[in-house]
Amino acid sequence: MQSNSRTDVLATASHDDDNLNNSSNPSLNDIIDARMSRRGVFRAAFSTAGGAVLGSMGLSACGGGGSAASTPAATVAKAATLGFTAVAKNKLDTVTIATGYTARTIYALGDPLTAATSAYLNDGTDTDFDNRAGDHHDGMEYFGLSTSGTADASSSDRGLLVMNHEAITDQFLHAAGVSARPRPASETDKEVPAHGVSIVEVRKTAGVFSYQQSSTFNRRITPLTPMEIKGVARGNALMQTKFSNTGNDCRGTINNCGTGYTPWGTYLSGEENWSGYFTRSATDNTTRGGATAKSVISLNRYGRSQGASSRHGWETSGTDDKYARWIITQGTGAATDDYRNEMNTFGYMVEIDPYDKTAAIRKRTTLGRFAHESGVFGKVTAGKPLAVYMGDDSRGEYIYKYVSNTTWSAADATPANRMNTGDKYLDNGKLYVAKFNADGSGQWIELSMSNSTLASATNYSFADNGDVAMNSRLAADAVGATRMDRPEWCAVNPINGEIYYTLTNNANRKLEPTSSQQGLDAANPRSYQDSFNSGALGSAQNVNGHILRMREDSDEPSAVSFRWDVYLFGAQADADTALVNLSGLSTDQDFSSPDGLWFSPKSGLCFIQTDDGAYTDVTNCMMLIGRPGQVGDGTTPTLSYTKADNTKVDVQTRMGVKPTVDTLRRFLVGPVDCEITGCCETPDGKALFVNIQHPGETITKANVSDASQYLSHWPGNAGYGAGGANARPRSATIVITKNDGGLIGT
Ligand code: FEO
Ligand code: CA
Ligand code: CA
Ligand code: CA
Repeated sequence: MQSNSRTDVLATASHDDDNLNNSSNPSLNDIIDARMSRRGVFRAAFSTAGGAVLGSMGLSACGGGGSAASTPAATVAKAATLGFTAVAKNKLDTVTIATGYTARTIYALGDPLTAATSAYLNDGTDTDFDNRAGDHHDGMEYFGLSTSGTADASSSDRGLLVMNHEAITDQFLHAAGVSARPRPASETDKEVPAHGVSIVEVRKTAGVFSYQQSSTFNRRITPLTPMEIKGVARGNALMQTKFSNTGNDCRGTINNCGTGYTPWGTYLSGEENWSGYFTRSATDNTTRGGATAKSVISLNRYGRSQGASSRHGWETSGTDDKYARWIITQGTGAATDDYRNEMNTFGYMVEIDPYDKTAAIRKRTTLGRFAHESGVFGKVTAGKPLAVYMGDDSRGEYIYKYVSNTTWSAADATPANRMNTGDKYLDNGKLYVAKFNADGSGQWIELSMSNSTLASATNYSFADNGDVAMNSRLAADAVGATRMDRPEWCAVNPINGEIYYTLTNNANRKLEPTSSQQGLDAANPRSYQDSFNSGALGSAQNVNGHILRMREDSDEPSAVSFRWDVYLFGAQADADTALVNLSGLSTDQDFSSPDGLWFSPKSGLCFIQTDDGAYTDVTNCMMLIGRPGQVGDGTTPTLSYTKADNTKVDVQTRMGVKPTVDTLRRFLVGPVDCEITGCCETPDGKALFVNIQHPGETITKANVSDASQYLSHWPGNAGYGAGGANARPRSATIVITKNDGGLIGT
């Protein structure tokens, strides 16, 4: 059923919108006080520090593009203009792309990954997802391959696409939809491996890319694939399970969302909404020592209060260990006798060597534990540490940065052992969380036992740095970090090294917050109502999201202070310009709920993808291309609100220069009920890969056998795979090329 009301749409999106942060970090009044006293200081500082554009810095791994590590800085050129006509918003069940471009589907849910695997029937009877494309294609990177099949970051004709399979549209995986609990093992055994990661070879033949069904590089990584725990939490007592008594190993990865491309040529996968797959008994708090027990505080903060039921009920499929692991109730024996700690083995950045099936996959715990999105490297400079930027996507969660202890050696761009190089840079370093000040400055606050605030924290008694990393959210609460409007992806601008974050939306951003909601602040300044065709207004919140950007002081990766502004505020074009459409978006560029974010290292253009439930009465989700300026190039508007008691509240924000149709345009609109996510290109910049996630995901068991009830039939209706006009919809990868062979977007 298609929803036109806000309530319905937001409800269906809720699995991607956990609400967990009840901390009381900065309030409106704190921010206003700070702004009044510090605004002038910032302006004076900015005019000198912010004016220089760093045209030739040694940026190499910006934006996560597969070609980045070998891209010489000299080839990074900012496209002078956007060379396409804006695509109109629409609700067509197809991919609408700018005139002059071609989009082809090349890899969809269920596609076989071995020569012996049968074609996908797409009728719910298919099995063997260990050898098929998973569901819900998400973040993605391109890794070049030479003609002889070795790693070659400069290859644009042959490569590996590595992508996350975040979640599943479970009804469509079974012939008659999902069975009641206890779940049949036959269904669970399909759903589990439909999650995880794909590695799939793609080749260009006669100018057209296709995936290679028989490639020996093809590989599925699933929630059952053995992995190593590495970094500061390796071997921690809180990591010990029946599977790994040492706390050094774990099984699998799940709900993989954003990605990263390391400067040494491996793949980072962010584990996002992993908590929902586990269940706890209704009396587990007592067993664990009551509400003040550390494990209970941690479980509650990460979304598993006692009695929580699991998303899919996989634990009901049998007594086998692979089902029992999803039950995290504490037993009567030792931690090594049960899975009380199993959830502690999830929530990390996971490093994978896509070229080597034999290399152990490693969870990099030093980068913190939260609902990870992307992990993007800042500018990479020989002799300086590496910075990795990350976000935690839940309402009111935080923005993080990791800084390596080891300084970068250029020889590591082509290392003999990629995973050991990962050990070198990702296992030893400092984790920071961001605090945004109203004057446009900000601080990175270190999360470690050497921070005296954490050593004496009252919300949770941290035992060691492993405990801090595993409970990053509690650590960030303790140090007073800024609660953000759901940080999704980040990306680094190859032109000037600035760091961009999508803040997708926040139903809990309020003018008058409660203990579980966030008040307004300069970096999260909007709370307003929106209506759908029904005319009914929803509650005030950050409906459409915004895109924040930051610049490290002195452009240093290890800086502990930065400056920030808001690149764009999402809004519908006809919304009020004083409180909502602050960026003055026109119909050629209006958008809602930015999520995927990526910069082309080749063109320097910014690709913005949406995962929206608020503007979907008007348009399907989309991708835009922008040519952004830099932090501080705009204005400092004040938003004037009126509270229920008629008192006025002013919130001043900091906003980049408003876009024009020359600096921001809609490039693509996806099929019905999808999200656009995942973005990478070949090193020559001439082929762009994008994922269409969960078209037509809104489906009930009652309707799964009636094709007329499907919201989408894409890509079957476009001639890809079985089913034609009546096909079950499938998540899929498309490849976009410009018909004249040029760079995408120029
Ligand atoms: Fe998986 Fe927050 O997007
Ligand atoms: Ca609307
Ligand atoms: Ca996302
Ligand atoms: Ca999202």
